[in-house]
Amino acid sequence: MIASLIKFRQTKDKILNFAPKLSSMQESILILDFGSQVTQLIGRRLRELNVYCEIHPYNKIPELTPDIKGVILSGSPSSVRDEKAPFVDLSNIKGKLPLLGICYGSQFMAHHFGGEVNGSIAREYGRANLTITDESCPLFAGVSKTSQVWMSHGDTIARLPERARVIASTEDVENAAYKIDGEETYAVQFHPEVFHTTEGSKMIGNFAMNVCGCKGDWTPDSFIETTVESLKKQLGDDKVILGLSGGVDSTVAAVLLNKAIGSNLHCIFVDNGLLRKNEFEDVLDSYKDLGLNVIGVNAGKLFLDKLVGVTDPELKRKAIGTTFIEVFEMEAKKIKGADWLAQGTIYPDVIESVSVNGPSCKIKSHHNVGGLPEKMNLKIVEPLRSLFKDEVRRVGRALGIKKELIGRHPFPGPSLGIRILGEVSEEKLRILRDADDVFISGLRNWKCELPSASYPNEMADNLYDAIWQAGTMLLPVKSVGVMGDERSYEYTIALRAVISTDGMTADWVHLPYEFMAKVSNDIINKVKGVNRVCYDISSKPPATIEWE
Ligand code: XMP
Repeated sequence: MIASLIKFRQTKDKILNFAPKLSSMQESILILDFGSQVTQLIGRRLRELNVYCEIHPYNKIPELTPDIKGVILSGSPSSVRDEKAPFVDLSNIKGKLPLLGICYGSQFMAHHFGGEVNGSIAREYGRANLTITDESCPLFAGVSKTSQVWMSHGDTIARLPERARVIASTEDVENAAYKIDGEETYAVQFHPEVFHTTEGSKMIGNFAMNVCGCKGDWTPDSFIETTVESLKKQLGDDKVILGLSGGVDSTVAAVLLNKAIGSNLHCIFVDNGLLRKNEFEDVLDSYKDLGLNVIGVNAGKLFLDKLVGVTDPELKRKAIGTTFIEVFEMEAKKIKGADWLAQGTIYPDVIESVSVNGPSCKIKSHHNVGGLPEKMNLKIVEPLRSLFKDEVRRVGRALGIKKELIGRHPFPGPSLGIRILGEVSEEKLRILRDADDVFISGLRNWKCELPSASYPNEMADNLYDAIWQAGTMLLPVKSVGVMGDERSYEYTIALRAVISTDGMTADWVHLPYEFMAKVSNDIINKVKGVNRVCYDISSKPPATIEWE
């Protein structure tokens, strides 16, 4: 996606200076992250219940504005008994706002408020059976008296903090959940946010609604209304430039901005010469209905010239990235008086870049290409920075954007450039485009009854919609075959189809054999230059989705 190609990783300080809190109007829950692998899931569970929430590192608490209705303390890989255990001063929170400690959060409160945490009594990893001992507790309203929970702790709370009493236990751990009397402070040793805690979502909802008093009115429509209003205020009569890619994020960002500032939004869509078959024309065409002000830039030759002789994946990515910036900058300069660059940054990017653990290590350079806004001296506007991917899609749908645009599979910024292994050439692009077209249109035409990849609660009616991402790679290997009565020596195509939720992990899809047989046959018969088709059966990790 071009928008994310130019996305750059802001430093922690920059993000925090730019937007201490992402929304200041919507009632919300503040999640303080102590570095657990599953903190994002607390956010997901709340958002599924239409409760707005934000995750902030424990050591960067935002201003406690009146819209914050409650606070959740996450888990952590640390032990409260470690010398360098994460510490947060709760004096402005505990007893003043509803508070829920999860795993480390519950041990943290026990440790610092008069209880005791012990390392040797009872470790629990995995499923456990929880028995509620105080059924009148609002946290457990509507929850079965006994239910399965997910535990992951080496330390145990041996003595509760002052004024606390047990509200639930497991066979091995008596203090599995407690409440502090006289204040709305709750703590659970287990992880209600993970799927294996069968009634965890209900407990999180109980905290948000029953304890914090949230209304649960965070919906795509309310998001659109408040965002358009705040964009109007933020941007006034300023001009904004946005890089469109045909992908979901940049499209939804553009339509929102268009609603707020109309013709002051100038979109640029660059043809890098590495797009899929007919993609440039099709995407430009589909933007016509949306009333967007789009400039299409045909820069294919420039990109292909820069790729001559380049075979290393990282050097290819860099060549494509820097050429994109050059082209974009040249076009953007033609739009006189622009003050802002809009980006389709979404919430997982924001959380990752400010997380306690810091941005994850660099595997491929796409997450780090940037520099454009500084270079052009533009301010940044990111209307989707508080949304998860599926929420972006829901907002897109509420904005009336066509399914063909909203349901498009992710596509990498460097495009087919990183799906042709080794050096890129016009001939290889022709082969890959044709093979990819057979595969993708085959997926669209194959009827199925599987859950939709974009809207998990709905059914897809064709394979394309049931798959999170699919693509075709051209391998740098030729092999011997026989076509008619003649020997052939031609290229190999690899097909890839994965299911994922965010691209961070992915599983290969068990495509129907009949479908694979048809696609393989069609590619070999119709695409000149290919005599062999393989299917990639690797998951991520350890493989990545793209091959380069
Ligand atoms: P990997 O190959 O890292 O891909 O498993 C994860 C997801 O990211 C997409 N991807 C990119 N997206 N610019 C982008 O905007 C890029 O340079 C880029 N490289 C990979 C990939 O298609 C998958 O959805």
